[in-house]
Amino acid sequence: MASSTYNPQLAPLEVNAATGEPFLRIEGYDDIIITPPRWDDGPQIIPHLNDPRVWQWMQGPPVPYLPSDAESWLNHVKPLSDEVLEELEAAKDSAELITVGHCPVSMIRKVNEDGSEQQIGSIDIIRSHDCGEVVKSQEDPNTYVVDLTRKEGNEGRNKERNIGDPDIIWEFGDYLAPAFHSRGIMTAAVRTIMQKWALPRMNVHIMRAGTFAGNIGSGKVFLKNGFRHIITLPDHAVVRGESKTLDLYEWEAPESTATGS
Ligand SMILES: CC(C)(COP(=O)(O)OP(=O)(O)OC[C@H]1O[C@@H](n2cnc3c(N)ncnc32)[C@H](O)[C@@H]1OP(=O)(O)O)[C@@H](O)C(=O)NCCC(=O)NCCS
Repeated sequence: MASSTYNPQLAPLEVNAATGEPFLRIEGYDDIIITPPRWDDGPQIIPHLNDPRVWQWMQGPPVPYLPSDAESWLNHVKPLSDEVLEELEAAKDSAELITVGHCPVSMIRKVNEDGSEQQIGSIDIIRSHDCGEVVKSQEDPNTYVVDLTRKEGNEGRNKERNIGDPDIIWEFGDYLAPAFHSRGIMTAAVRTIMQKWALPRMNVHIMRAGTFAGNIGSGKVFLKNGFRHIITLPDHAVVRGESKTLDLYEWEAPESTATGS
């Protein structure tokens, strides 16, 4: 994997000199980095997602979280990262930085003093595939309303839009191992991913995050990164047999003229 010369298309990712693996250092934390997923991440992910301090706030991962779940997750995310890294490699002689449709780094790792690395969480950016019914009000574009008749069409269009289209609505998904909560790490991770990759390399203009009502920490992470709370969706989903209310946050590039549809 190691390549002797730095591919400028990776910018601003750094490259681990020993392994050739690209990474982003989380701003303000010398010992916390974000790297691509690795095939052997499963055993480290499993205890995090079996901890109720993590899973109670998450919709996707099954509970209990089994080795086969970690394997399916890695089978999903690793190829997405590999594909972007291959595109960047193929474009290495282009003078201009290409725009890509995914962030190749998503696993948050602590680098220990002996150089070993410990997976402590993840931060993913995906195209939003939910909440297509939440659209800007025609009377007041600062206000969002629910229009169920537009849900399916909006979600379908969001999937189909071309890479780099500023109207794509993106969404964050994240978690951190409880031992690392409340140290400012996720606030800085969101800031780093947005500033270093999502905006310059994916042309992201609209980013959303949905948190279950009561997830104060997660809401703060997004508010501190310039997101605003746009709507509360009562009883949005039934998760593990329980009805969940969703708080939806959105960040929009200042120059964005998107209509939210
Ligand atoms: C949500 C989560 C990612 C936040 O990450 P974090 O690194 O702990 O967040 P930060 O340290 O950057 O904290 C941001 C703010 O939230 C506060 N906070 C963090 N966890 C909190 C909690 N459990 N309860 C209340 N406040 C909390 C912090 O004190 C900080 O507040 P401040 O700015 O007023 O000091 C992390 O708590 C987590 O993984 N939770 C479980 C999974 C989850 O909720 N994922 C998100 C799904 S939407």
